[in-house]
Amino acid sequence: MISLRIFRLPDEIVLKIAAGEVITNISSVVKELVENSLDAGSSRIEVILKNGGKESIVVKDDGEGMTEEDILLAIEPHTTSKLRSLEDLLHLKTFGFRGEALSSIVRVSRTRIVSKTEMEDVGTEVEIIGGKVISTRKVGVGRGTFVEVRDIFFNFPVRRRRLKSPKIEARMATERFQKYLLSNPKVHFILNVDGKIIYNCPPVEDIHERIPIIFPELSDRNIMYIEKDMENMSLKGYITFPEITRPNRTGEVFFVNGRNIISDLLHEAVMEAYEELLKKRRYPIVVLFLKVPGNEIDINVHPQKLEVKFLKEEIIRNFVRNAIKEVLSKEWYRKIVFVSDSYKIKEKVHEVKESFPTRLFHILKGRYAIFEETNGIVIMDFHAAHERLLYEDIIEFMKKEKRRRKLRKPLKIPLSSDEILLVEEKGKDLKSIGFDWETLTDGINITAFPPFIPATDLTNVFKDLVEDLKVRRSSKLMETVARISCKYAIKSGMNVGFEEIIAMYENLKKKGTNVCPHGRPIYYLITYDELDRFFERK
Ligand SMILES: Nc1ncnc2c1ncn2[C@@H]1O[C@H](COP(=O)(O)OP(=O)(O)O)[C@@H](O)[C@H]1O
Ligand SMILES: [Mg+2]
Repeated sequence: MISLRIFRLPDEIVLKIAAGEVITNISSVVKELVENSLDAGSSRIEVILKNGGKESIVVKDDGEGMTEEDILLAIEPHTTSKLRSLEDLLHLKTFGFRGEALSSIVRVSRTRIVSKTEMEDVGTEVEIIGGKVISTRKVGVGRGTFVEVRDIFFNFPVRRRRLKSPKIEARMATERFQKYLLSNPKVHFILNVDGKIIYNCPPVEDIHERIPIIFPELSDRNIMYIEKDMENMSLKGYITFPEITRPNRTGEVFFVNGRNIISDLLHEAVMEAYEELLKKRRYPIVVLFLKVPGNEIDINVHPQKLEVKFLKEEIIRNFVRNAIKEVLSKEWYRKIVFVSDSYKIKEKVHEVKESFPTRLFHILKGRYAIFEETNGIVIMDFHAAHERLLYEDIIEFMKKEKRRRKLRKPLKIPLSSDEILLVEEKGKDLKSIGFDWETLTDGINITAFPPFIPATDLTNVFKDLVEDLKVRRSSKLMETVARISCKYAIKSGMNVGFEEIIAMYENLKKKGTNVCPHGRPIYYLITYDELDRFFERK
């Protein structure tokens, strides 16, 4: 049989091909058949699973199709239309290249292949059972290919028994299917599992329209676009704000040269980029498309091509990590949910946005931000910085606006009799700040308080204040209240983003403040002079 299209691979190539099982479960059949449909230039691909695929798997496409000769040759081992020479292995544009999938599938199932090319008037139907062709006939069909795989592993009982339950097999196949949805926006995909349409996705302009289909927690508002080129590499895709995470790695989707793979290297690069922004054991959702020169990866290391080997691992890792970091630091702007609505630190962030060139390099230990200055390196304790700025804002607020928040229902704070006396003693000052209360025999009933104290922290703030008054009998009541309030504001879990950290730094520089309200330093400058001296350059 002679086909101009499909060839048998020469032995030297066959020997180079990663050995191992191509077909292990339902998902691997779906993978191979869908990839064949994509390679055939299809614009519509439909997958139908019965009994989770254990009864039958159907993949139907409208691609270029096969002639009778094509089909009969394609089901032989190591026959492909996609690869002619070893050289081609480096410049693959197709998913397939080993010519193994169809032959493996037909050997372990009852398969029916129906196909027609553009050139033919009628199509061909070939039935194969356990690798043996049992019938061939002409049928009237449209262009494209239909492959039905029934009773997988019927002739390999041990492997059949190793299949999981229909539910699990269907889930794994669905997860695989999702990857093609994400990487082929122009293709109409349909997935039908046991009579239920799981996906019916008409073509879209851009993959971001498909991301929420697969990750329902995402929408346009919480995904960020990423695009970065470096020499002969490029990275594109979407990443999420650090507050949207999953408890596992299921949100991590990597494509290398269009091929979906799993990769510890890329996983690590992602985690390094998010670093301190993530809570423990939380993982971001990232859909990343990496392009690298064909001769810098080996896609032949895994029998199902689910892994690749990068030849320049460190370069790739740095490239991906830095690209993500850049987007996170530039675009991740989260407003600080602050203690009172009358009052926001937000404006500050905008204020300094124009004067940007400040470079925030890195955050260490979730505490220290490193900046570059003209005369050296600055290390800023940004929690201390945050506290200082909050403190100053509260002081300013207290001086300017003498407002108070009234409580509809008074809040009782139990106090000892000497504490009550102390409060009475400072009565005038406390009232001038915004507090008001009724004295009881065993405490006080707070009826009003300054608006910058969150109602939920009111008891704690007041108790700390009383403690402070006991030891200091301080006349600087205003400062004390401000200091205690901002301590609680920070404690109640305000997360600070890159932009706020930069804004804080700019603000502190403008004000020339360098200690926090407790007198601890806020930043530390190491000048280049010092460095030069240390390294004995001077
Ligand atoms: N859906 C399809 N449409 C058109 N041609 C196909 C289809 N599926 C398989 N073929 C042809 O059969 C050949 C063998 O397929 P396969 O065994 O998957 O090997 P590979 O994809 O590695 O070439 C392919 O190279 C292709 O020419
Ligand atoms: Mg193939």
